[in-house]
Amino acid sequence: MQTLQKMRIRQTGTAAKPADPCTLVIFGSSGDMAHRLLVPALYNLAAAGLLPDCFALVGVARADSTEEAFRADLENSLRQYAIGRLNEDVMGRLLSCTAYVCGDADDPATYRKLTKALERVERVRHTRHNRLFYLATPPASFAPIGRNLGETGLAREENGAWRRIIIEKPFGIDLASAQALNRELLELLDERQIYRIDHYLGKETVQNIMVLRFANGLFEPIWNRHHIDHVQITVAETLTVGNRGRFYDATGALRDMVPNHLFQLLSLVAMEPPTRFEAHAVRSEKAHALDAIHVPRDGSVLRDCVRGQYVAARVGDNEVEDYRKTKDVAPDSTTETYVALKLMIDNWRWAGVPFYLRTGKALKARRTEVAIEFKQAPFAMFRDTPVDQLAQNFLVMSIQPDECIGLQFNAKVPGPTVTIAGVNMAFNYRDFFDSGPSSGYETLIYDCMTGDAILFQRADGIEAGWRAVQPFLDAWHQAGSEGLAAYKAGSQGPAEADALMSRDGRRWRPIA
Ligand code: BG6
Repeated sequence: MQTLQKMRIRQTGTAAKPADPCTLVIFGSSGDMAHRLLVPALYNLAAAGLLPDCFALVGVARADSTEEAFRADLENSLRQYAIGRLNEDVMGRLLSCTAYVCGDADDPATYRKLTKALERVERVRHTRHNRLFYLATPPASFAPIGRNLGETGLAREENGAWRRIIIEKPFGIDLASAQALNRELLELLDERQIYRIDHYLGKETVQNIMVLRFANGLFEPIWNRHHIDHVQITVAETLTVGNRGRFYDATGALRDMVPNHLFQLLSLVAMEPPTRFEAHAVRSEKAHALDAIHVPRDGSVLRDCVRGQYVAARVGDNEVEDYRKTKDVAPDSTTETYVALKLMIDNWRWAGVPFYLRTGKALKARRTEVAIEFKQAPFAMFRDTPVDQLAQNFLVMSIQPDECIGLQFNAKVPGPTVTIAGVNMAFNYRDFFDSGPSSGYETLIYDCMTGDAILFQRADGIEAGWRAVQPFLDAWHQAGSEGLAAYKAGSQGPAEADALMSRDGRRWRPIA
């Protein structure tokens, strides 16, 4: 490789050990999430030797099925979704420790059956009564499951056994519902037992933002309003709403992506250095950063946001129909499939530095990145030369599809005259590190089994996120279809989003 000399500087840290003995109970075990993501992640953990020998998996779902049929379903999913070649031994071992409970999450009888199943598997598998309950269900079931687990004592920690619950997103649909859900869960469980998941935190390159900032002395001195012009956070997808019309039309791009995934990226960029690399310290700093987002009021709300909806065109080779023609979407829907926001962070580090966020479906390319633009060098020195402008200095943390960190700077073009060109220095993860197959869920499930909550969200962080987006939700609700921009599928998004930037004399980086 030419751009950087390949040198593995001392790798620090110790190799991971298998997690604690435990039983994983998946509520919603017949769903897409369990089959496509969770069970393949368990397989990867088993293949990497990180799943404990004393382990059991209990599926809970409405489907009237048997343990054999459940096992056969899981095997089919593994054959379909596992990344890489399957090791039949590992798969056999994983499938041999499964049990199934049929029942509705609202029905107390389900929890009586679950108690019996747990007594049986815990005896046979010696799991030391440690239990991890994974709520891979529609959000309406989160509170009833939490209540039932609390009331039946299934989640009560006793005799040294731990009991934890993992809750999928969306955690609430607005500030009030997120607060209500937190209140309800915290009446029955301790904050320590609740792991609110955001799969973005399972991505290695997202975790690396913190390491880049805090394990290198180089960045901290310039990571502030004196040197940074602005920050752009982009999560662009080529995917359409597909067959998720019912969920998506009630949710929209803002709720689906911003208070969770985009705010995880924002808080990692904006947070102050935590005193320790430990859950309490890290989560407190992230929550403070979100709490410092300026909450716009009245007039400025609509000025600092753009919402759009895609209309028929091609994305790559595929014809995409109007969002409004998607199955289960209202023909006059005003739900946004694209959102762009300008946010300010009210603290000494970031005062005056805009954070521009955008995310959308059916865009030109799939790209998730955080781009930090540094202030320009004074131009005066080049006034009497042929140089008419300097390229922008961007530090770009690319999360997907490329896992890469790039730095753009100005360099002299070889030759007798002073000519300057912007060049890019790039570090690609795959050039330096080998990593096993992973969807991100491996890390999150493993961390939960070992009791490390650093990559999970605390109640205050969740609520701070909703507080920051609530004014936009309210303003759009009031505005109805007014101000909803249209953009062509396969494009860069609505022209109004470009205007949001150009008004400040800035431009989005192209989605390519
Ligand atoms: C999910 C959203 O949380 O994240 C989806 O509900 C979105 O709408 C997905 O497509 C994006 O995740 P990723 O990992 O593909 O960027």
